[in-house]
Amino acid sequence: MSSDRFAGKVALVTGAASGIGQETAVLLAAQGARVVIADINESGLSDTQRRIEEASGDCAPIVFNAMEEADCVRIVEQGVERYGQLDILGNIAGIVSMYHLAEITANIWDRFMRINLNAPMFLCREAMPHLLETQGCIVNISSTAGVGGQAYNTPYVASKHALLGLTKSLALEFAKRNVRVNAICPGAVATPLNDTIRWPENIDKALVQRLFPEMEGAATAEQIAAIFAFLCSDDAKFVTGAGWLVDGGQTI
Ligand SMILES: NC(=O)c1ccc[n+]([C@@H]2O[C@H](COP(=O)([O-])OP(=O)(O)OC[C@H]3O[C@@H](n4cnc5c(N)ncnc54)[C@H](O)[C@@H]3O)[C@@H](O)[C@H]2O)c1
Repeated sequence: MSSDRFAGKVALVTGAASGIGQETAVLLAAQGARVVIADINESGLSDTQRRIEEASGDCAPIVFNAMEEADCVRIVEQGVERYGQLDILGNIAGIVSMYHLAEITANIWDRFMRINLNAPMFLCREAMPHLLETQGCIVNISSTAGVGGQAYNTPYVASKHALLGLTKSLALEFAKRNVRVNAICPGAVATPLNDTIRWPENIDKALVQRLFPEMEGAATAEQIAAIFAFLCSDDAKFVTGAGWLVDGGQTI
């Protein structure tokens, strides 16, 4: 893909310190975008910055905590202040862990909703005036957990279903004003996220089997980044409200 696909565009990517977010930031920068890279993990952000700058790209790292509404407001403000506009918002930061229903405390539930759902909503709200000016777009990373149930994964599944609902609602609300809002729904992706999953004791293994793809292995973060870039590109100009599955046949 040519390196000027996103020339003149500015992207804000959360979760940019690792996995899908890092690969997305690196790819958008390689294709000409200036990228605001945001994450709670400062050293991971430095790694992303190094990769982008080594490839002669332009990025601005900002540390933020997706748990905090004020931080979501701040990163849009700082990003626009730095680069003067916003064309692409990528809501990629997220957490996952598995629990039996009885283990789910108010704190656990709150943490999932604040990081996986509230932060994308606040960021969409803050970014929208800028995206209306540039006729830009939003891509939210949902999951196969956004389109079907998964045993022991209730907080994550609920947050990712809601994120897909948010995506479709905003896609409708802003379609006539030419701001596109899409989601990607990956199944298994080989990223550090999978190392952080806590598996509860005494689970029904047959139910857990449903989490695995029919195809061998898992997607790479680069493959998800490529779909992200496609959805932001002019090739996808008529795509809005989609929940783009990348799941190796998991949900067929
Ligand atoms: N890896 C998979 O199999 C998979 C599958 C479907 C969907 N997803 C989704 O893709 C997205 C990216 O996940 P990934 O696999 O690249 O994982 P990852 O762990 O590599 O990256 C997630 C990033 O989110 C950041 N983050 C977490 N909490 C944060 C907070 N409070 N504030 C700011 N940043 C925070 C982390 O620091 C990390 O850099 C997530 O939304 C995840 O739910 C992943």
